[in-house]
Formats: sequence, structure tokens, C-alpha cells
Amino acid sequence: MRTLVREHRVDLGQLVAPMFVAERANEAGPVAAMPGIERFALDAAVAEARELFALGIKSILLFGIPAEKDAIASGSYAADGIVQRTIREIKVALPEMLVMADLCCCEYTTHGHCGILDELGEVDNDATVSLLCHIATSYAEAGVDVIAPSDMMDGRVGAIRDALDAADATHVAILAYSAKYASAFYGPFREAAGSAPEFGDRRGYQMDPSNAREALREIALDVAQGADIVMIKPGLPYLDVLRAARDRFDVPLAVYNVSGEYAMLQAAIANGWLDGATAIDEVLTCFVRAGADIVITYFAKEYARRHG
Ligand code: PBG
Repeated sequence: MRTLVREHRVDLGQLVAPMFVAERANEAGPVAAMPGIERFALDAAVAEARELFALGIKSILLFGIPAEKDAIASGSYAADGIVQRTIREIKVALPEMLVMADLCCCEYTTHGHCGILDELGEVDNDATVSLLCHIATSYAEAGVDVIAPSDMMDGRVGAIRDALDAADATHVAILAYSAKYASAFYGPFREAAGSAPEFGDRRGYQMDPSNAREALREIALDVAQGADIVMIKPGLPYLDVLRAARDRFDVPLAVYNVSGEYAMLQAAIANGWLDGATAIDEVLTCFVRAGADIVITYFAKEYARRHG
């Protein structure tokens, strides 16, 4: 009876697995704060993608850990950059895998901010947007299916859309991190991606956790600029924002179950304080109940193993 009257289900087709790829093989290995998650070298990333695909996870979100950084993220758009090479190799090995690439500068800058800085050390919004367009077209040339800008600069979705269209990449979709909060829950990710800001924080460009209505304005702007999918991030503390967005917008809606949410659950599971399978299934189901069409989660593989 419960199966019959169940309102929401998690389908493997809704899950996206984030994946970290390190350019230097000696930087590959486990991420301490995210048990079960690894930074892969390129060939291991391809093998992991094959495994995910076989388990029924057919969308991945790539993050690169480049060998070199500088103040202006010049490694980010290299044709042979780590993300560009990974996109190419995975699309050759698995043409049916939907490959998304996170678009941001923080992994490529020595200062760790999501954009280029001006003389005062503030992120220069417009200069960063031009750079993002440059990176986006390099991902498109490599064969990416979806560009996912996570930088939170103003006006970047429209600019990226124009740049992609001008580069004959009209088929590449944009998944905008529209309502991305300046959250403490990204801590473990910054260890994984080596992208913690060297000074200051990201409150100048990411959203204030106190604001919900503002998230709807941010989403409306991104939709107007051509975003194909919009995202709320983090997930668990922001289910109210997810619900409000679902009620207001008809576009596909994604939620990012971020690194800190993963870490706290895994820590409690490892201590025997929570039952892993039940807790994970509950969390993923609640994202769908709250209105998500797409759930980006480090639990994707584990979930697929149990429900494939
Ligand atoms: C890059 C980016 C971050 C995350 C996704 N893209 C980190 C940040 O903004 O500091 C966080 C993902 C996670 O915590 O799992 N800007």
C-alpha cells in the first residue's frame, strides 16, 4: 500500500555525480573530509565514469585541480587543461554520458577567489565575466554538454550564452548556480579542490543565507538571460528556497547536496550514530519532495549501488 500511494521517488536519472580530476597524478587520492570521495587522475576519472554509467548514473559534474595557478586564472581556458582533457576523454569513452563542467575561477587563482581582482583586491565582476566566456567556449570545444557557472558574477549567464552561440555551441546548455549562498557547508569541497580563498570570503558575490526572496530574483535574472536549468545550493538548509523556486518557476530545477552536508552525514554514519542507507535515502527523497528535478550529490554512486 505504501508503495502504491507514495508521492515521490528518486530516479537514478535525476542524480548527478560530482567528480574531482587532478592534473598532477600525485595530487590524486582520497579527500579526508569526504570519506568515499577521491580526486582522480585523468585515466582513473574515465574508469570512474564508466563505473558510474554502468550503475545507472549518466550525468557527471567535473571539477579540475590544475597543476598551476596564477592571479588571473590563465590555466582555466587552455585547450589541454585538465577539465578540457577530461571532457574529451570521457566523451570518447562514453558518448552517452552527459558531461557537465563547473565553470569558476577559484580552482585556478592563487588567491582562491572566484574571479579576477582589481587594484583594491575586490573581485572585478565584468573582467571575470569575459574570462568565464573564454573558459566556457574552451569547454564547448572540448565537447561538454552542459556548462555550470558557479562563480556568482552578475550578468554571466547572458554573456556565456552569447559567447557559446557565437562559437557555434548553441547545443551546449547552461545550468546556472543561481541561488548559491555564502555557506559554511563548502568547507570540505575547498579541501578537495584546493580552492579556499587566501583572504576574505565570498560574501561579496555569493548570497546571504538570511535571504530567500533575493534567491527568487537571482533565479528570475538567470532564466531571463537564458539559463536552461537553475540551481539552489546548498540543499538541506535551503529546502524552503527550493520549494519557493519550484512554486514560482517552470524551468528544470537542480539542488546541490554539497560537501559539508555529505561530510556531516558520513561522520555520523561512521560513528554509528545514524543508519547510512536510511538516512541517505531520506535526504535524497526529501530533495525531490521539496521540488528538485535534479539532485547533484556525492552519494550518487552509493545510492545507485543499492537501488540499481
Ligand atoms: C566553485 C564551487 C564551490 C562549490 C561548487 N563550485 C566552492 C565555493 O564556492 O567555495 C561547492 C561544492 C560543495 O561544497 O560540494 N566556486
